Amino acid sequence: MSLSAPSLNADEQKRAAAARAIEFVTPGMRLGLGTGSTAKHFVDLVGERVRAGFDLVAVPTSEATRVQALACGIRLTTLDETPELDLTVDGADEIAPDMSLIKGGGGALLREKIVAAASARMLIIADESKCVDRLGAFPLPIEVTPFGFLATLRAVDKAIAGIQASGPLKLRLGKDGHAFVTDGGHWIIDAQLGRIDDPKALAHALSTIPGVMEHGLFVGMAETAIIGGPAGTRIVGRT
Ligand code: A5P
Repeated sequence: MSLSAPSLNADEQKRAAAARAIEFVTPGMRLGLGTGSTAKHFVDLVGERVRAGFDLVAVPTSEATRVQALACGIRLTTLDETPELDLTVDGADEIAPDMSLIKGGGGALLREKIVAAASARMLIIADESKCVDRLGAFPLPIEVTPFGFLATLRAVDKAIAGIQASGPLKLRLGKDGHAFVTDGGHWIIDAQLGRIDDPKALAHALSTIPGVMEHGLFVGMAETAIIGGPAGTRIVGRT
């Protein structure tokens, strides 16, 4: 009989990354809680810690996470009450070797970025499929105001074209076939670029467009990622 190492599926990889991230959580912490299927595991585990006696407070990055955290018994606060957080733990859609990220596949990028920016540290948790050599295969989410949508769309296309080859820009639709609406009441353009040559330059160019509320490029925000793979977890970046 031969013994082989367990091979974790994608959801188990996410769970394993979340379980390792919980080791970074200590009593009394002010936490940012991310959004998405990986962050969901982390919120479950924070709930377990709270029920075991950890006293901490948390700011959720979306309505979905707020509802989940409340159901888990996690004490919530806001950035108005608690403007500085110790740690935010969140998922990502793509992670480059320099720790630049694409986020916003779940539509929560604006609050995710505000909460991460208010945190002393941002820890990313993800399954192996999120690690890429270069960002851009995943469509870049760009959150925009509905007012003047077509003018903003043109400005986004022009800004991208000033830096690199642009690509199809698609208004994200919800399950009802209408524009997907974010927690902040905005719409999302998914920019199908294929590759992003200079994330920092693109991030800057998008930030200067009136009507763009936020974009899913997180550059220089995360220093550490816990990656769940088929055989277990590994830490990328600062430990
Ligand atoms: C939510 O808006 C996103 O930024 C998520 O963090 C990202 O899409 C990763 O989601 P999953 O953990 O579900 O892959």
